Amino acid sequence: MDKKAVNELLLNPDDFSDADLRMLIERREYEEMLMTQADKIRREYYGKDVYIRGLIEISNHCENDCFYCGLRHSNKNIERYRLTDDAIVDCCSKGYGLGIRTFVLQSGEDEAFDDLRVCSLIKKIKTLFSGCAVTLSLGEKSYETYKKFRAAGADRYLLRHETSDQAHFLKLHPKNQSAEKRKQCLFDLKSMGFQTGAGLMTGSPHQTTDHLIKDFRFMQDLKPDMIGIGPFLPHKDTPFAKFAGGDIFLVLRTVALSRLMFPKTLIPATTAAGASHPMGLELALRAGANVIMPNLSPHATRKLYALYDTRPNAAEETTEYLDKIRQRVSAAGYSVNMDVGHVCGA
Ligand code: 5AD
Repeated sequence: MDKKAVNELLLNPDDFSDADLRMLIERREYEEMLMTQADKIRREYYGKDVYIRGLIEISNHCENDCFYCGLRHSNKNIERYRLTDDAIVDCCSKGYGLGIRTFVLQSGEDEAFDDLRVCSLIKKIKTLFSGCAVTLSLGEKSYETYKKFRAAGADRYLLRHETSDQAHFLKLHPKNQSAEKRKQCLFDLKSMGFQTGAGLMTGSPHQTTDHLIKDFRFMQDLKPDMIGIGPFLPHKDTPFAKFAGGDIFLVLRTVALSRLMFPKTLIPATTAAGASHPMGLELALRAGANVIMPNLSPHATRKLYALYDTRPNAAEETTEYLDKIRQRVSAAGYSVNMDVGHVCGA
């Protein structure tokens, strides 16, 4: 396709055929045009704003055994921890002092954080820190549990679908997990009024372009409010230790496509994107990302929350990190916005 035709095509993302998506996912020669158009659309909806979310990794215990993840249950080489409720509130307090207005509670699938405990945490955080949003990222739960979380005041929920193709899903997860269950959870969350985040790893083992096309079609059904995309990165104590890490440019093309096809979504410049390339953060912003999630977890536990081998900034102070983020964001032509930053139209 000549460049003029591609530029034309990029103006009508709702009409992308599978062949169009394949070309835009696979071909690097259109990457620049794709990113430029994504940046234009992002500015139309969100201006230059980049929203900040404080990430708190509340537990690295996990009952699941995902083949790619360092927190998997079978990994015996990991020191497990759980933050106390007081420690979690402390993290929020520190973040609130820095101006952060969204707290993301993330963990492995850990039954110790039962409904009662999570609901009491949500209520505590929402009461103590006025005007803040609470985002949960605690994995697959029952409809009833999600309902309770929502009633307790949680605003958003992140649950990457990982891959919408069941056969591929089974190459990434043991048989007790399924793509169908994951998708059902996402539809449940949406139906309850959670701002709902889906997402995936690009370059995960056995992933093909067909899978990615299917992921976009699934997201067209779901209409997520947030889309998290990062490259797969190997972890030495997993069955996927020997697989190569995903390439940042495929992340950029899928982020840009997400921005075009779902213009209102909040899209993070993911930690994994930042870890896989020195300019990963800036590049992701240029491709249409508009969220950054600095880590508010206590220093002692940060290195224990290792999903993959490379993690940057593990030892950095949040204050310094936030200053650095501000500088990098402005140098890239955007600006940090510390507001609660709900999804466009929410
Ligand atoms: N590389 C990149 N991303 C990973 N995740 C888990 N393990 C890895 C890895 N090895 C991502 C998954 C999960 C999110 C919390 O982190 O997509 O949903």
